[in-house]
Amino acid sequence: MQHRRLPPAARSSRSGHAPASAPVRERTAPDTSARERGGGGPVQPPSSQPEWRRQRRERRAAAQADERRKLAQRWPLLPREALPQEDFTVQLAPYGYMEPLLEELGERVLTVRGRLVLARGGEAAAWAQNVWTAPRWLEAASIGQAVRALTALQRNWRGHALPESGHQRRQALMEAALPHVGSRPLHFGEAAPTAPLGAFTLWEHDLLLASPSTSSPFADGEAHFEENRTEPPGRAYLKLWEAFTLDGRRPRHGELCVDLGASPGGWTWVLAGLGARVFSLDKVELAPQVGCLPNVNHCLGSGFGLDPRHVGRVDWLFSDMICYPERLLQVVRQWIGARACAHVVCTLKFQAETDHAVSRAFAAIPGGRLLHLFCNKHELTFIWHEDAAI
Ligand SMILES: C[S@@+](CC[C@H](N)C(=O)[O-])C[C@H]1O[C@@H](n2cnc3c(N)ncnc32)[C@H](O)[C@@H]1O
Repeated sequence: MQHRRLPPAARSSRSGHAPASAPVRERTAPDTSARERGGGGPVQPPSSQPEWRRQRRERRAAAQADERRKLAQRWPLLPREALPQEDFTVQLAPYGYMEPLLEELGERVLTVRGRLVLARGGEAAAWAQNVWTAPRWLEAASIGQAVRALTALQRNWRGHALPESGHQRRQALMEAALPHVGSRPLHFGEAAPTAPLGAFTLWEHDLLLASPSTSSPFADGEAHFEENRTEPPGRAYLKLWEAFTLDGRRPRHGELCVDLGASPGGWTWVLAGLGARVFSLDKVELAPQVGCLPNVNHCLGSGFGLDPRHVGRVDWLFSDMICYPERLLQVVRQWIGARACAHVVCTLKFQAETDHAVSRAFAAIPGGRLLHLFCNKHELTFIWHEDAAI
């Protein structure tokens, strides 16, 4: 590994571009140069939504509708008498990641409706974006009756609409009649809400599936933040914001962090902003606005070449490297085994297939937890604290 600190001028001359190996970000727009040059078809009227974004939204909606259709064929609606009554949970699949959740739950799956998977037992799946931990069925012939039944259980409820139920309007009327629950985006640094949050859906015209408690403090597990659109390069920084907010722990001022696979620098930007000292490592440079931060020291090299026994103990190990999850498992085991860090946050990035065996190996590390963040795509986030392992 090459240890060096470039002068700011040299750094800014090279960086600022996403590395070649970085995933293609969805915001990549199609080539509009023909239109801009005045050729290539009719001139579009100005609109608040660029055409490519509208098309992307439509493609996504069509793919979701297709997935819903296939799932409805695979899991036909259960008759009322066959609905589970006890020892089950509702596990919400992240958008577009129903398959990994179903694979993880395996034989535990009882039925599926929309993104809701009714599963035997109480254990939360890593791929679940939110878990309804105490579900029950409530019969309610009217909107008023439904609202009374829900508020008798607790105050705070957020509805989860099932497009396939055909009762969205009725459900929306129920939601409007329930006590207001705030849902503004969080400012990073604020604690996640602590009040219990219930979730419900109108399963049938007069039947609610409701849980007064859920695993996530956010409705449908969707953590929204007031984003910073000017300073961090890219949007990967949101993963750390979400991980720290859910976990309740983050690096303190002056703590030493190693950030593997750091470019273009969103995570390093978050860590430096917390006042931590950051040793970042990547095969490519950081974006200049991150590389020049005084508490950031960037090195070019491979995260696999960094031997924790030679680094000395650090407070936090981070990795967002694009690599096979089993390779990352080796790295994490090496660091934890050498007692070279007190905390780990890393992303397991999956290829076409989800490697559940590796996920289980991560989940089995004492003191660790594995979760699918709202910001994660085909990835899971592993968070580990040494003091939780004791
Ligand atoms: C998803 S990007 C990381 C984004 C970053 N966390 C951020 O917030 O901007 C993945 C990075 O991993 C880097 N990478 C891939 N293999 C690596 C390796 N063996 N060692 C170090 N970095 C690696 C890539 O160069 C790329 O910059």
